[in-house]
Amino acid sequence: MAETETVAFPQNRTCPYHPPTGYPSESRGQRAVSRVELFNGRTAWLVTGHAEARALLVDPRLSSDRENPAFPLFARRLAETTQRRVELLGLDDPAHNVQRRMLIPSFTLKRTAALRPQIQETVDSLLDAMVAQGPPADLVDAFALPVPSMVICALLGVPYTDHEFFEAQSRKLLRGPAAGDVEAARDALDEYFRELIERKRRDPGEGLLDELIAKQLETGALDRDELVRLAEILLVAGHETTANMISLGTFTLLQHPEQLALVRDWGGGGGSGVPAAVEELLRFLSIADGLSRVAVEDIDVSGVTVRAGDGVILSTAVINRDEAVYPSPDELDLGRSARNHVAFGFGIHQCLGQNLARAELEIALPALFSRLPGLRLAAPAEEIPFKPGDTVQGLLELPVTW
Ligand code: HEM
Repeated sequence: MAETETVAFPQNRTCPYHPPTGYPSESRGQRAVSRVELFNGRTAWLVTGHAEARALLVDPRLSSDRENPAFPLFARRLAETTQRRVELLGLDDPAHNVQRRMLIPSFTLKRTAALRPQIQETVDSLLDAMVAQGPPADLVDAFALPVPSMVICALLGVPYTDHEFFEAQSRKLLRGPAAGDVEAARDALDEYFRELIERKRRDPGEGLLDELIAKQLETGALDRDELVRLAEILLVAGHETTANMISLGTFTLLQHPEQLALVRDWGGGGGSGVPAAVEELLRFLSIADGLSRVAVEDIDVSGVTVRAGDGVILSTAVINRDEAVYPSPDELDLGRSARNHVAFGFGIHQCLGQNLARAELEIALPALFSRLPGLRLAAPAEEIPFKPGDTVQGLLELPVTW
């Protein structure tokens, strides 16, 4: 590829665990910041260098405001959907910080550590059910999706019995093929949470939503529509992402038997190498690829000037394969130190649920492989369907046997 060539963004992965081969990459001697063309013909900057990304993600001249008409969108279905305020993730400071501070106490390392026994119980009971049912199984349906779904429901105080409804809505929200799907899913979730909040006001339970109702809604710090939209973000971000990490992580380990042997040696319950292994999987898979921003002032970066009004996209998958930071970046090496990866983003929007996601992965993956030591794919690897490039990366299904 010539240095000046403008490539399309997003592109589909050709292998579910490697970044699209068509993106520029510093490791291939290309620039850390280059031009890409979006589906609607507009151009944006694509950032692929690790140092440049970390500097830009803490730069207040980049905005996350989805209501800015220049905000870069990845797919026609999103462009055709009426834009509306996105709480937290779509706000800049200081408004962002007000909401983030309301939520932080529920996501600290300490609060998350206290959830570990409950996560372990959830994981064990799902594995019991899989074993009782007997092979084969779709690991997405039987394990990867219900683990984070059950955990985020318990944390928020959302009844898990409604999971089929909200999982279907988040699928439509994140990758519904048409604009109508996105709108319909949003409306359905709005109505669901409005009703749930009313019910909880009359009959409070235990959970983050109940806490937010008591401390923020009743005091007027949040209005009802803000709380509804915030609850939606927490619910969707809390289950789709981790589910993709569990299924794609499992697939990737099965494709790297010498690395998988390390996980097996660590046994259920997690040995000392598990946190580093999870960090490496987060780096290697970078499932939330393509963080978007819009410049609100001119910024000089890596020899180019990003102008106010330009869209900026950060490819976490390519950034996390920057050779200057991770030697042999395309190799999965569970023993390496994958610190400072940007799979959870960086800066003010760095994933609020990262401690929770780590706890889930550190429990779910070792438990799965120690309970089912014969776990293997029930279909040829090349036939396992994976998600297109314009959404969170992961597998659509994972047929397994044991
Ligand atoms: C492995 C799983 C996960 C991955 C890879 C992931 C990835 C990310 C990334 C990359 C961002 C930054 C987006 C940006 O800068 O534009 C983010 C933000 C966020 N994530 Fe996660 N996430 C995961 C799990 C979770 C979980 C379990 C929750 C639980 C509620 C969660 C809640 C959030 C929230 C609320 C934000 C917005 C934070 C803010 O704007 O201040 N995530 N996540």
